[in-house]
Amino acid sequence: MMDETDPMFAPEVVGPTVDFLAPMAAGGALEFAVGSGRIALPLAERGVRVHGVDISSTVLEQLHAKGGRVTTTLGDYTTTTVDGTFSLVYLVWNSLSNVTTQAGQVAAFANAAAHLSPGGRFVVELFVPQLRRLPPGQDFVPFDVTPEHLGFDEYDVLTQRLVSHHYSPGRGGYGAGEFRYVWPAELDLMARLAGMTLSERWAGWHHEPFTAESASHVSVWTLA
Ligand SMILES: C[S@@+](CC[C@H](N)C(=O)[O-])C[C@H]1O[C@@H](n2cnc3c(N)ncnc32)[C@H](O)[C@@H]1O
Repeated sequence: MMDETDPMFAPEVVGPTVDFLAPMAAGGALEFAVGSGRIALPLAERGVRVHGVDISSTVLEQLHAKGGRVTTTLGDYTTTTVDGTFSLVYLVWNSLSNVTTQAGQVAAFANAAAHLSPGGRFVVELFVPQLRRLPPGQDFVPFDVTPEHLGFDEYDVLTQRLVSHHYSPGRGGYGAGEFRYVWPAELDLMARLAGMTLSERWAGWHHEPFTAESASHVSVWTLA
């Protein structure tokens, strides 16, 4: 079950994301890790044919309970295939890092390419590993320290594993998630292995320039 009180569901986050994706979706859109439809449902409301894949039946039930025209397939986005092709495949809100092996992430790029029509685009929104904030001997990077939320990322620089620790007194207490962090250049190589090349990289959905200080990126790869 997704917590839809999360700030990622705010209109000022969702709106620019849909504005960015919609022009690329004339030939239909496939969302990997669709969740409860935060982006898929408003994209479909703009007249786009949207299909979603997610590994959790609970979140897909949450999505369908809202109505809307998004069709779905239950499965792992690294291997699940669906009928047809799309001009856009997208994977947002750091969900590529949910797959914790390099082989799995490479498979995600290959699976995206397999569902794209010629000239189609794969769009990924992902955090940039904050390795420059780790002095020797330190593994933790605090990313949010407020009375409402304490957030610390724990890096393992040998395995590229990251455990994100959260403590929110008003929202269920302690929780943690395991991820594989990945540098943008490694993603470009995964894209190349799948027959795609980088066409755009921004710091966010408003087309902000991507710089050495950017904490996140929105990358667009195009299928040859
Ligand atoms: C942070 S949520 C993002 C949901 C949605 N994309 C959004 O932006 O609101 C991550 C989602 O990824 C799904 N997920 C994680 N690993 C997956 C996998 N290997 N295949 C398909 N879905 C996966 C989870 O079930 C969850 O719904």
